[in-house]
Amino acid sequence: MSESPSTQPIVVVCGSTNVDTFTTVSEFPAPGETVIGKRGIQSLGGKGANQAAASAHLGNPRGVRTVLLSAVGLEGEDPLSELAIGELKHHGVDVRHVARVTEPTGQAFIMNDATGENIIVVMSGANETVNPLDYVELLRGDVAAADSEGQSECAPVGEVKVLLAQGELTPEHSAMLPELAAAVPDARFVLNLAPVTTTDSALMAAADPLMVNEIEAADVLGLPRDTPQEELFAELGKVAKSAVVTLGSQGAAIIAPGEQVQIVPSPPSPEVVDTTGAGDAFAGTFAAALAAGETMVRAAQLGACSGSLATRKNGAAASYATEAEIRALAEEFFD
Ligand code: RIB
Repeated sequence: MSESPSTQPIVVVCGSTNVDTFTTVSEFPAPGETVIGKRGIQSLGGKGANQAAASAHLGNPRGVRTVLLSAVGLEGEDPLSELAIGELKHHGVDVRHVARVTEPTGQAFIMNDATGENIIVVMSGANETVNPLDYVELLRGDVAAADSEGQSECAPVGEVKVLLAQGELTPEHSAMLPELAAAVPDARFVLNLAPVTTTDSALMAAADPLMVNEIEAADVLGLPRDTPQEELFAELGKVAKSAVVTLGSQGAAIIAPGEQVQIVPSPPSPEVVDTTGAGDAFAGTFAAALAAGETMVRAAQLGACSGSLATRKNGAAASYATEAEIRALAEEFFD
């Protein structure tokens, strides 16, 4: 169901775009060891791009548009940039504000083991140039109106409902995110601080919610990683306006001011093939659901379904389910 053109909700994702190269090994090598991996896929990745793809999957059929603010290498010179932009468009993401820069497109090298776990090394490249301040004027104006000269078939006017960011910008650039969020004061600033590259208190204080897994929660708070959940939840509630702690296959905890912590379970995955990008699927789906007017709890339910479905296929964005698949699983598991 599409909203009227004058009110089309928009999710703006400010973050990284990578091309992921996967290989599968029976067991991860120890330091100094060489192992032979099986050839895997090369496809779109980067937490910003993945979350934008997940947002578009849920959002587009619900009339929510997803705009990505990111950077890749130069057209005609950097073949990985064509792969990334082509796949982003295929996922339904508005890429007109993805900058072309002289630095190479970001890359991630990912090893998966037989259990679907992974080890990831990222080379940031062009992502190091993504500066939220470059987009303040764009968001102060009207993202969609600025797009009206482009090739969009979407409505010419829209309203930014959610600004979504991750931890893959440089720490200096991440510190600028609250200024970008201030350009759209009616939008919710969802900060998935993965990886924990900064513990800037002003950045976390602007987040609504701050989204982290349990290990990241301990790291952002400067607490030991074996800190009891209850203590993590209580402390997170003090550093951000609200928080979501993703608990992997257990689901997610919703921490909202003045309310009891609510645990949203995750639908079990019959077979975990590859967990890469499952957290991004949760975050992107969650953001699109919020933009579509869902509550935090319903957004987390849809996010949990999206994350669970993403573990059943190989790849990051390549593993993301459609809106219909997410809705069907949510109806089966939650409703
Ligand atoms: O969260 C998964 C992502 O982390 C991968 O797609 C990889 O590019 C890294 O950014």
